[in-house]
Amino acid sequence: MQDIREHIASLRDDLNQHNYRYYVLDNPIIPDAEYDRLFQELKQLEDAHPELRSPESPTERVGAQPLSAFQQIKHKLPMLSLDNVFDEQEFSQFYTRTQERLGLAEPLEFAAEPKLDGVAVSLFYEKGKLAYGATRGDGVTGEDITHNVRTISSIPLALLGADYPAQLEVRGEVYMPAAAFEKTNAAAEKAGERLFVNPRNAASGSLRQLDPSVTAKRGLRFCAYSIGFFDGGQVPSNHFNVMAWLQSLGIPISPELRLCKNLDDCLAYYASLANKRPTLPYEIDGIVFKVNAFSDQKELGFVSRAPRWAVAYKFPAQEAVTTLKNVEFQVGRTGAVTPVARLEPVFVGGVTVSNATLHNMDEIERLDLRIGDRVVIHRAGDVIPKVVRTIVEQRPVDARRVVLPQSCPECGSPVEKLEEESVARCTGNLMCAAQLKEAMKHFVSRKAFDIDGMGDKLVEQLIAKDLLSDVADIFTLREGDLRLLERMGEKSAQKLVAAIARAREIEFSRFIYALGIREVGETTSRTLAEAFESMDALMKASQDELLGLKDVGPVVAKHIGHFFMADNNRRLVQRLLDHGVRIQYPVIETSQHLSGLTFVITGTLADYTRDEMKAVLIARGAKVSGSISKNTDYLVAGESAGSKLKKAEELGVRILTEHEAVQLIHDA
Ligand code: IVH
Repeated sequence: MQDIREHIASLRDDLNQHNYRYYVLDNPIIPDAEYDRLFQELKQLEDAHPELRSPESPTERVGAQPLSAFQQIKHKLPMLSLDNVFDEQEFSQFYTRTQERLGLAEPLEFAAEPKLDGVAVSLFYEKGKLAYGATRGDGVTGEDITHNVRTISSIPLALLGADYPAQLEVRGEVYMPAAAFEKTNAAAEKAGERLFVNPRNAASGSLRQLDPSVTAKRGLRFCAYSIGFFDGGQVPSNHFNVMAWLQSLGIPISPELRLCKNLDDCLAYYASLANKRPTLPYEIDGIVFKVNAFSDQKELGFVSRAPRWAVAYKFPAQEAVTTLKNVEFQVGRTGAVTPVARLEPVFVGGVTVSNATLHNMDEIERLDLRIGDRVVIHRAGDVIPKVVRTIVEQRPVDARRVVLPQSCPECGSPVEKLEEESVARCTGNLMCAAQLKEAMKHFVSRKAFDIDGMGDKLVEQLIAKDLLSDVADIFTLREGDLRLLERMGEKSAQKLVAAIARAREIEFSRFIYALGIREVGETTSRTLAEAFESMDALMKASQDELLGLKDVGPVVAKHIGHFFMADNNRRLVQRLLDHGVRIQYPVIETSQHLSGLTFVITGTLADYTRDEMKAVLIARGAKVSGSISKNTDYLVAGESAGSKLKKAEELGVRILTEHEAVQLIHDA
């Protein structure tokens, strides 16, 4: 029995250590599966020996029964809030004001950490064991959420070590990391439940569950930002050291915690964290700066409900509310007709936004969006602004539904939407100025024909002046044509004509990429260029041949097939070649397995010209002769072969059909 008791204790210890390494140090040493195995082992032992159970055991996190209501908990010390500042000037004023209050001339030291966007929580540890957890509530009284905070793996049920006061209140933020938020909302969507509007809302909703098994599934995290009440022991004398000490007790703190020695340090930290913000795996809405020394904090004191020794320096909001003025439709290179939101300009994420993408009609449906609605716009980092929510409650009576146009807004061709696709497309292809413009931009872009000096503006002008009606026309442009354009001098026109001339020489993979086949990007273009020996071979490729290539799935194969089936595309390729485009094929290392063999070719071949067949044979080491003799090894005989076939039969030379010859060529 003593053995089992010790084994259980050591398993709990191990699991707590691994938890600590995972959540606090962010440096796990065992794989998740090994953690699960240890956990199961402990659980089985405890099941077999219920008398050895303990409320601090890692197995007891989700044990509690659902509550019928929350109990109230009065905080031993009130939980305060923070004053905000929004720009450098306001922050600098706060800094000097604080310095002055303390009667200091020299720089003042601040501890700084991100302001997490979650829910403030108080954790009360008695003799190192988690006694209860409470929400902030009104700051004086909160709700007892012990059953739920126990399910949050990053909150230790027992503190590590022995260096802590008998009673210790830890304060911090419970938040939902971005990945957990997406998972939670995806699950809600699948179950047909209401989605959470943001991670903070989701964290709050998850913490205020009566059933802890629901909370346990939500992937919540805890991060401490201060201590509250304590009794029966010592604590360090400044904020920074308190945080380091909490971390040693197994409490997670922000990895971004910094000491700032002076005002410049504070401002530099703000700038660097603002920069890092879009890459963090959780949402933050500012930085909290706290006077580091507790003696200074005490001297500064409080005004109403906020301390004078701390401030939240907020980042520009990433979400803002504005009005949807209209929805317009844009036509892309592949004809996709994309709805774009025209917005009442609004300042969000540090810039003024007046347009946002809406992707497709399904998205509009999902957002339940009407013209005139109040909408929430999200913009983070350099990401394109998005409409994330409609405030249906504020919908004006004259709000209008968005309808997909029946005909292309650019060229008037019918717009079609296939059942299996979410996008609608203009059927005008290169007849459509919008599609032509996008196709042209793609065609001349760096990874395609790479025509220097052919910018977007120029392409637009050429199309507007009717100088281009398909991409091949670019090779017909003369200096005189270019001189018709605005701001095009003689020199620039000459330069551009020279650049176009140079571009005629093009690698096979770039040529394929330039065609703008749907779903065929740079990588696939390269794969195709390596797999097919010529443009002709690629154009004739069967679906099976395409599907045999790496990175080519059924969708891509279908797009390639469709592209080359269309007469206008085949004509386009031909026109490019007629205009002097020369495709450079990769030099393929071919095997020399036909060396020493002599071939004669006769008749009409189906897939090759005789010259092509000759080149392919020679490339593999064969000799190709014009007449049959007893030294001839093979005669390749095509349709309506005549005298050579007869002579070969007489001499007993082996005769190959075109198909057999091709097999021999490929049988390296
Ligand atoms: S310190 C007396 N530090 O912001 C100072 N608060 O606006 C009390 N918050 O209720 C708070 N991250 O929920 C502090 N690093 C941080 C914080 C933080 C988020 C929240 C907290 C508080 C609210 C105040």
